[in-house]
Amino acid sequence: MVSSTISNSTKSSTELKVHDPQDLLALNPVEFEKHFAREPFLIDHSLSDHPLFDLNRIVELTKSLPEECIEYNAGNLPVSLDPELTPRNGLSPEETVRRIEECQSWMVLKYVERDPAYKELLDECLSLIEPYTDPIAPGMTQPQAFVFVTSPGSVTPYHIDPEHNFLLQVQGSKQIRMLDGRNKEIVSETDLEHFYSDQGRNLKFKSEHEQTGWTFDLQAGKGLHFPVTYPHWVKNGDSVSISFSITFRTPDLDRRRALYQVNNSLRQKGMSPSPVGQNRLRDSIYYNGFRVLRKIRSKKAST
Ligand SMILES: [Fe+2]
Repeated sequence: MVSSTISNSTKSSTELKVHDPQDLLALNPVEFEKHFAREPFLIDHSLSDHPLFDLNRIVELTKSLPEECIEYNAGNLPVSLDPELTPRNGLSPEETVRRIEECQSWMVLKYVERDPAYKELLDECLSLIEPYTDPIAPGMTQPQAFVFVTSPGSVTPYHIDPEHNFLLQVQGSKQIRMLDGRNKEIVSETDLEHFYSDQGRNLKFKSEHEQTGWTFDLQAGKGLHFPVTYPHWVKNGDSVSISFSITFRTPDLDRRRALYQVNNSLRQKGMSPSPVGQNRLRDSIYYNGFRVLRKIRSKKAST
């Protein structure tokens, strides 16, 4: 188990070699076949004593990442929150990690694959997952990883994410509430249009959906699959939490983003576009048009 207090010795990178990549994850092919990209499900992992999640190593990581890859704030937040109003915690990233037990904070280190050791671990994990996801969502691209370090009781407000995601709980526990992103009462077409047009990822949690969806008490050693744009909020247990999120995209998600962007601009022009996925021919025409326009714009930008 990773200790939540900083020890004097920082583990050397040679220690990373003690893990056999085959043992990092334990996956059930039937779960993937039945649920991947449609419903959340649990997997097992063996990262809880991995040296990359020692707090000293995470402090090192905060020093090596550029500022824009580190997001952190006070963690005692309500479930629904305007991102503009999120309060900071008054500490540096390094201090936040060192004082995570008492500083009531939430921190995410983004794109940690910039560090070669984390990239190696991400690649090893995704290579174990890919044989089961590829038949369902072919063409794994953009592998990215995130490390979350959060104080006891911290809340991540209700939001949606754009990637295929597995959240691996390394230390501590999290309660996760997830709702069904296929239900248009829960995530509307306009919610998705705004999200894919970069107008915010937080949603309003509607009390009438309180009794729907799934609740997970995610313990160290377990991982949870989050289908793309299934809304969720997360509350930490009563000890420091460290989690490793491994994500990837697929070409169908690029198409989805493009179609919602098209609908968003049509709606801004006063039209009422039909929902994405309702008319295949319309979607194909719009997506091809979008790609042509994108090519023309990128050519213009490069000349
Ligand atoms: Fe999320």
